Amino acid sequence: MIRSKHLCSAVTVVALVVLLAAIAAAEPAVFSFDRSFYPYYPSLIKWDKSDVPFTPPQTCGQCHVKQFAEWNGSVHNMALVDPIYQGELNKAVKAVGHDITRQCEGCHSPAGMLTGEIKGAGLAGLSPMARAGVSCDICHSISGVTHQQTPSRDPENGSMILSPGENGTPVKRAPFKPGPTCGGGFHKCEQTSFQLKADLCASCHQVYHYDSHFPLEATYNEWKSGPYAQLDILCQDCHMVDIKMFREVADTFRKPERGDYRHYFNGANYLLSYLGAAAAKKAGDTTLAKRLMSQYDMAVERLKSAADLEISPVYRDGALSEVKVRVKNLRAGHNLPTSLTNVRQMWLEITARDETGKVLLTSGTLRPDGSLPEDVRIFNSDGMGKDFHFAIDPWVVTAFQRHDTIPPRGYKDVYYGINPIAGVKHVTVEVKLRYRQADQGVAEALLAAVPKDIDLAAQYGLDKVPRLPVVDMVVKEEKLVVSKH
Ligand code: HEC
Ligand code: HEC
Ligand code: HEC
Ligand code: HEC
Ligand code: HEC
Repeated sequence: MIRSKHLCSAVTVVALVVLLAAIAAAEPAVFSFDRSFYPYYPSLIKWDKSDVPFTPPQTCGQCHVKQFAEWNGSVHNMALVDPIYQGELNKAVKAVGHDITRQCEGCHSPAGMLTGEIKGAGLAGLSPMARAGVSCDICHSISGVTHQQTPSRDPENGSMILSPGENGTPVKRAPFKPGPTCGGGFHKCEQTSFQLKADLCASCHQVYHYDSHFPLEATYNEWKSGPYAQLDILCQDCHMVDIKMFREVADTFRKPERGDYRHYFNGANYLLSYLGAAAAKKAGDTTLAKRLMSQYDMAVERLKSAADLEISPVYRDGALSEVKVRVKNLRAGHNLPTSLTNVRQMWLEITARDETGKVLLTSGTLRPDGSLPEDVRIFNSDGMGKDFHFAIDPWVVTAFQRHDTIPPRGYKDVYYGINPIAGVKHVTVEVKLRYRQADQGVAEALLAAVPKDIDLAAQYGLDKVPRLPVVDMVVKEEKLVVSKH
C-alpha cells in the first residue's frame, strides 16, 4: 500500500513536471523569429556584404552637390550625433546591456552599426561614414526588405537589406531609368521602384519595443490607415519638398512634379536643428550652420501649417456655460503629433476674460519651472511599463496608459466650463495650440546623461539646459456673447 502510494506521488510529480514543461514550451514567444535570418537582432536590418564598402556622403556630394547641400542640414544627418539621442542611448546601454544598441543604431546609423565601428554611446574616433547617420548610402543601397519573415509582416526596426555594391563597384538605386552616364564612372545605377514608396521610410519610422513588440512610434501605420495613403500621397511628397509645396500637396492631394523633390527630410524637430546650428557655428562651419538654421525655420513653418483651431460657445438655458475648442489636424499625413508621442508635447493654453480684463478661466499655462500644470489638455501619450507604472524609456514602455493624438484630417473637441459673473456681456477667449520637443525635466535628464566625450558647453555652448523653446502652432481669439436672451 505504502509503496504504491509513493509510486503514485512519484507519478504525480513526474506528470506535473511534464505538464509544467509543456506549459512553458506552449507559452507563445512574443516575437518568434529565425535567429539566423536576423544576425543583428533586435534590429531587423541585413547587410549584403561584398568587397564594396559604404561610401561617406561627402564623396557622393562631390558629384551630387545639390542633394548633399539639402541633406546636410537635415535631422537625418544628425541622427547619430544628436546629443539627445546619445543621452538616451547611454542610458539604454547601462539599463539593458550592449545588445540593445544594435536596435537603436540600425536606424540612427545603420552603416556604423553593421561595420561594427560603433561600440555604444559616444562619438570619439568615429569615421565620417558612421557619424553621418541616415546618409545617402543607406537609402540608395536598399535592395530589399526583411519584414515578410516576421510574424507581423509589418515594416519595422530597420527591416531592410543594404547592398552597397558588387564586384568592386558601388551600385546605387533610384526609381528612374538610368542614362548612359549614370554614376559618372563611380557607381552603377539600378532602377528600383522602392524609393518612390512609403516602404522606404517605413522600416525606420515604425519603432517597436526591442523585445515585447509594442509599437512605440507608429508614424507609418498611422499614415497607412489614413486618407493620404489612400490617395497615394507619400511621406516623400510632404517631407522631400519645400514648405510651400508641402502645403499645396496636403491641401489638394496632388503629387509634386519630379523637379519639386528636395532632400530636406524636414519635420518638426526645430530644437535639434537649433542645437546643431549652435555647434556648427562654434566649430566655425558657417555653411552648415546656415543650412541647419534654414531647416529650423522650415520646421517651425511646418508646425504652424499643421493644425487649426475653432472656438465656439456652448449655451445652457440661454447662458454661456462652456467654451468649445476644436483642434483640427489640417496637414499632417499621420496623427498629430506623431512618432515619439510619449515625449513630444502639444497642448492647449486658454484664457478667458470679461470686459474689465478679469480672468474667468485659464488652463495650460507653463509653471515658472517650465513644467505643465496637472489639468492641462495635452495631445500626446503616456507610456507605462508592465506594472501600470508611468515610464518613458523605450526599453521599459510596453503599453500606453493614455494615447490621445489627432488622426490625419481628423479633429478633437475640448470643452472648458465657464461661469461668467452677473453683468458681464462678453467674454474674450484666447486659445493657443503649443508644441515643444519634450518636457523640461525630460530634456534636462537626457542632456545630463550624454556620454563623457560629448562636451555640451564646449561643443554646443550649453552651460545649463535653457528653457525649452515653445512654438505656437495656432493662436486664435474669439469674443463670445454671454447671454442669448
Ligand atoms: C532617407 C532616404 C534618402 C537619403 C538619406 C538620401 N536620398 Fe537621395 N533620394 C531619395 C528618394 C526617395 C529619391 C526619389 C525622390 C526624388 O526624386 O528626389 C531620391 C533621389 C535621389 C537622386 C535622383 C535625383 C533627384 O534628386 O531626384 C539622387 C542623385 C540622390 N537621391 C542622391 C542622394 C545623395 C547624394 C544623398 C546624400 C547626400 C541622398 N540622395 C540621400 C531618398 C534618399
Ligand atoms: C525603427 C527605427 C528606430 C529605432 C530602432 C530606434 N529609433 Fe530612435 N528614432 C527613430 C526615429 C524615426 C526618430 C524621430 C522621431 C521624431 O522626431 O518624431 C527617433 C528619435 C529618437 C530620439 C529623439 C531625438 C530628438 O532629438 O528629439 C531619441 C532620444 C531616440 N530616438 C533614441 C533611441 C534609442 C535609445 C533607441 C534604442 C533603444 C532608438 N532610438 C531606437 C527611429 C528609431
Ligand atoms: C563621380 C561622380 C559621382 C559620384 C561620386 C556619385 N555619383 Fe551618383 N550619379 C552620378 C551621375 C553622373 C549620375 C547620373 C544622373 C545625374 O547626373 O545626376 C548619378 C546618378 C545617381 C542616382 C540616380 C540614379 C538614376 O537612375 O537617375 C543616385 C540615386 C545616385 N547617383 C546616388 C549616389 C550616391 C548615394 C553616391 C555616393 C554613395 C553617389 N551617387 C556618388 C555621379 C556620381
Ligand atoms: C535608416 C533609417 C531611416 C530611414 C530609411 C528614414 N528615416 Fe527619417 N529618420 C530616421 C531617424 C533615426 C530620425 C531621427 C533622428 C533624430 O532625431 O535624432 C529621422 C528623422 C526624420 C524626420 C525629422 C523628424 C523631426 O522630428 O523633425 C523626418 C521628417 C523624416 N525622418 C522623414 C523620412 C522620410 C520621408 C523617409 C523616407 C523617404 C525617411 N525619413 C527614411 C531614420 C530613418
Ligand atoms: C500630408 C503631408 C504629410 C505626409 C503625407 C506625411 N507627413 Fe510627416 N509631417 C507632416 C507635418 C505637417 C508634420 C508636422 C506636425 C507633426 O509633428 O505631426 C509632420 C511631422 C513628421 C515627423 C516629426 C514628428 C514630431 O513631432 O517629432 C516625422 C518623423 C514624420 N512627419 C514622418 C513622416 C513619415 C515617415 C511619413 C510617411 C509614412 C509622413 N511623415 C507623411 C506632414 C506629412
